[in-house]
Amino acid sequence: MTTVERVREEAAHIGAQPAAGQESGLTGDTVDLRVLKGVPGGAPEEVAYQVPMVTGMVVLDAVHYVQHNLDTDLACRWNCKAAKCGSCSAEVNGHPVLMCKTRIDELPAGPVVVHPLKTFPLIKDLVTDVSRNYEINREIPQFTPAPGDEGPWRIQQVDIDRLYEYRRCIECFLCQDVCHIMRSHHYADRFYGPRFFVRVASLEMHPKDVLNRVDQTRTDGGLGYCNITKCCTEVCPEHIHITDNAIIPLKERNADRHWDPVRFVGRFLRGERPAGDGTQQGH
Ligand code: SF4
Ligand code: SF4
Ligand code: FES
Repeated sequence: MTTVERVREEAAHIGAQPAAGQESGLTGDTVDLRVLKGVPGGAPEEVAYQVPMVTGMVVLDAVHYVQHNLDTDLACRWNCKAAKCGSCSAEVNGHPVLMCKTRIDELPAGPVVVHPLKTFPLIKDLVTDVSRNYEINREIPQFTPAPGDEGPWRIQQVDIDRLYEYRRCIECFLCQDVCHIMRSHHYADRFYGPRFFVRVASLEMHPKDVLNRVDQTRTDGGLGYCNITKCCTEVCPEHIHITDNAIIPLKERNADRHWDPVRFVGRFLRGERPAGDGTQQGH
């Protein structure tokens, strides 16, 4: 009996069939997939599934296999299967990752444990409610050039390169999930989070934008809560240097604007009050 025949027989034994086109890639191994299933108000439980291993299989493949063959009720969100739509975020073996980018043969031996993002409210199984992120997005004023300045514009390459990094964001919200300000302190109501510090930076660093969003980011956005732990940068699948290239420049602008003594005296003489109470501090 060939390996493929043996695996097919094993798959049939557990009541499963390889997905169309995947037979030739069967490795003979079985993935011990454990998925946290549940709904709000219920008691989520880890359910174990045995999935035939296919060469190059990613976690999303295994979840799809379960949906097609073993448990049609299992809910997960995905769209592109190409690490570009940001939909399939989950916590695999405790790490926030894109399921479609996480190869099973690169994970440590043992069960593959898949949980939904912990920071966001659960909808069902692996699907969470990330709508708070879109509310934050709407709070941030959009790109605003000077009145009458409609282009075409000439922008230096160095500025284009800087903005390009921010524009790589796919809104997977893995950085929001891992940030302890949102995850442990539950400050989603007063903290924009790393993804939106990236968005603010992309607007603030744009050479043709004339608005100043730094005050708002400090007061409504809670920039001061961030203590530069860099966890967000570590999980970003687009390798955006969130802390070094977005958060720290925003903090520097904030410090220049509010804590520079010369500017302070200038504001005092002009009778200006600083925006917000300025009391937020890092944790
Ligand atoms: S660096 Fe700041 S935004 Fe990023 S995870 Fe740490 S506290 Fe959160
Ligand atoms: S900054 Fe990175 S981790 Fe955060 S939402 Fe964008 S792509 Fe995802
Ligand atoms: S399915 Fe689009 S990023 Fe994974």
